[in-house]
Amino acid sequence: MNNPEVRIVEVSARDGLQNEKTLLPPDVKIALIDRLSTTGLKTVEATSFVSPRWVPQLADADEVFRNIRKVPGVAYPVLVPNEQGYRLARAAGAVEVSVFTAASEAFNRANINASIAESLQRFQPVLDDANAEGVKVRGYVSTALGCPYQGDVPVADVVNVAKRLYDMGCYEISLGDTIGVGTPAKARAMLHAVSQEVPMQALAVHFHDTYGQALANILACLEEGVRVVDSAVSGTGGCPYAKGATGNVASEDVVYMLHGMGMQTGVDLDLLVATGAWLSAQLNKPTASRVTKARTMAA
Ligand code: HMG
Ligand code: MG
Repeated sequence: MNNPEVRIVEVSARDGLQNEKTLLPPDVKIALIDRLSTTGLKTVEATSFVSPRWVPQLADADEVFRNIRKVPGVAYPVLVPNEQGYRLARAAGAVEVSVFTAASEAFNRANINASIAESLQRFQPVLDDANAEGVKVRGYVSTALGCPYQGDVPVADVVNVAKRLYDMGCYEISLGDTIGVGTPAKARAMLHAVSQEVPMQALAVHFHDTYGQALANILACLEEGVRVVDSAVSGTGGCPYAKGATGNVASEDVVYMLHGMGMQTGVDLDLLVATGAWLSAQLNKPTASRVTKARTMAA
């Protein structure tokens, strides 16, 4: 494959922890992010400045963000649903944020209490301020391969929302299979359709592994040309407003696959495995990473 470099966007500290029953204290979250920062990852999503009533697991966003060690060369984006979240993130020192909406109306209503159009309206002041303040903004499109309420999601709807976010000024659009129902040909066709309107270099894929299809989907999308992949150590993750969805694809497994294919990530797999194993111990639950399971059993 041309351009063998892939950037991993590590989302365990945000997507991973937002859906955990076990509430980790801020110092453990800080330790997680600091560990991830030493693995060679270039993007470590840190937390969300959302309503603490909606996502109590991340109510300590300010404390966590202020106290992580910001390693030069590593980006620490945070989720913001609106201008209020943006201002809180900026006050804590964030220089990169992510806005998030969906390709299906019912999921968006359940997740952020807004229609797709309303959510885009809410993002406009965020993008205006970010533009004026030199802050990078990433955009997420959820339910890109299926919706827990609506079922199938037309590809044209994914394309429209992705294009809107890109036109508004998001530098990268992450296409999310929020409930992990996608399969490779479908994932590839969706990515291909979006790439007709948004440059492939500005696209990322975000797979949850509910049906065990995530690695296969990633491979199909790599073949289509994507070079940015979201994942979470230990396969943590899920959205509290997407019933039945399990974790993100495990970063350890993605990195193992990529390195095995001769692609570069800059990530030290041993350090990543150690961090994933440490996180599953903190959460007191078995890792969902097959690589970490294999390595730990072999040890
Ligand atoms: P709402 O209740 O409609 O908001 O929630 P509101 O504007 O009416 O405000 C209600 C209260 O929330 C007020 O407080 C606000 O101050 C407060 P009160 O006066 O009642 O005490 N509030 C906030 N507090 C802190 N930070 C904020 C904030 N905004 C308002 N930013 C809202 C609307 C968007 C706030 C809410 O629905 C929310 O926070 N939702 C977040 C849901 C979420 O984080 N979901 C998970 C992330 S998305 C995901 O996981 C998918 C992804 O991984 C990709 C994929 O897998 O597809 C990204
Ligand atoms: Mg997600």
